Amino acid sequence: MAQSNLYNSLDEVLNALKNLKDDPLANAGTNIVISRGNPNAKLLLIGEAPGPQENIKGKPFVGPAGQLLDKILSAGNFDPEQDVYIINSVFRMPPGEDGKSFRKPNDKEIEYYRPFVFEIMRLMNPRLILLTGNVACQSVLQKTGITSLRGQWTQLDGRWLMPIFHPSYLLRNQSRQAGSPKALMWEDIQEVRKKYDELIK
Ligand code: URA
Repeated sequence: MAQSNLYNSLDEVLNALKNLKDDPLANAGTNIVISRGNPNAKLLLIGEAPGPQENIKGKPFVGPAGQLLDKILSAGNFDPEQDVYIINSVFRMPPGEDGKSFRKPNDKEIEYYRPFVFEIMRLMNPRLILLTGNVACQSVLQKTGITSLRGQWTQLDGRWLMPIFHPSYLLRNQSRQAGSPKALMWEDIQEVRKKYDELIK
């Protein structure tokens, strides 16, 4: 996908995001939530959108899904603070109908924030990217269908990308049987470790 270069450094993108005032969720009353982890890491992980805990703490993946995500990364022998940089596809929590709960981001929101996601990818320059769930696949690959996309590598601008299940999906599917989302996630993170070791020596 053609993307224009809008910024000169990762700091510039992050500053632009912090100062957003006319984004589609600007009037939602929720905060801008950008990143956690190490911006110099070789692995970038892209989630969906902040939830209530992330909205309060100002960092992605710090609620129940984030705790599970850290366990998954650790199972692949990745230190979530040192070896990974973590962002979302949408940088504010989309509020639910009642203004309190939250909902999935819609197409317009995903499209609006997409250039920021691509600029973070370009300027952070990771070797590997993990897309957690369909919203991240829609943002970066412009396609969805996580059940068939997960575990498959694709290349984009010289980087290796793999869609994986979203940790929230695993929280709703606790089975550990062969072929269950948890078992597949275990396989995927081992495959990510293998590729990481091949590429980064
Ligand atoms: N789910 C996400 O995709 N991102 C978060 O930051 C939290 C939950």
